[in-house]
Amino acid sequence: MKIRIDKMLSNSGIGSRKQIKTDARKGFIEVNGAIEKDSSRIIDTDRDTVKYMGETIKYTQFIYLMMNKPRGVVSATEDNYDKTVIDLLGNQEKFYKPFPVGRLDKDTEGLLLITNDGRLAHDLLSPKKHVDKTYYVEAAEEVTKDDVKAFEKGVILKGDNYKTLPAKLQIIESGYPSLCLVTIREGKFHQVKRMFNAINNEVTYLQRISMGTLNLDESLKTGEYRHLTEDEIKLLLTVPSGH
Ligand code: URA
Repeated sequence: MKIRIDKMLSNSGIGSRKQIKTDARKGFIEVNGAIEKDSSRIIDTDRDTVKYMGETIKYTQFIYLMMNKPRGVVSATEDNYDKTVIDLLGNQEKFYKPFPVGRLDKDTEGLLLITNDGRLAHDLLSPKKHVDKTYYVEAAEEVTKDDVKAFEKGVILKGDNYKTLPAKLQIIESGYPSLCLVTIREGKFHQVKRMFNAINNEVTYLQRISMGTLNLDESLKTGEYRHLTEDEIKLLLTVPSGH
């Protein structure tokens, strides 16, 4: 990709273009080993090596973060009342203007992808792509083999009588509460909670543990986030065409 040095460095979070112009004059910028005082020079990000104060700057247009969303925080970029997941990011990440891919309820924890890659977000959320999302669920009442069968067939949600697509319910432990895993391929508002309501049960704790090829990193405490690895990004970018 061909880009001006000042644009490249400011997009990488180094500073404003004005700041970079001054820094270039001071000799802080090198291109392919030689000092470059003209910050308007166009470089090729695939071929040229740009260093800022001795550090090689790898140009990135997109940012991909995985967060272990805590309770009490909303999956939005802005909110008048509540803290948002974006408020939990550092300035370096906020610079890229990332947004959460889809929503987890305020009281839901777990895997949330945060990116500024609109195409990927669109693909992952597209109802046609049927990206699997797996949740760990604690439910107030016993969960039975009949419930597993009902989820397999799809359940009718109360209120709008929407029939869900087949979902996989795995019982870890049935009791009061019951512990299970649920995998759904769509993302209606409050879907998991509504599916449990449809079988006369109630979700008391909900945590997303995977989305498509991406699994929640168990070393992340709630509220923590990390950048995706190259492999995680590559796998995510090959979103299946739907089934
Ligand atoms: N289903 C829900 O009910 N809530 C979530 O946050 C995610 C899926």
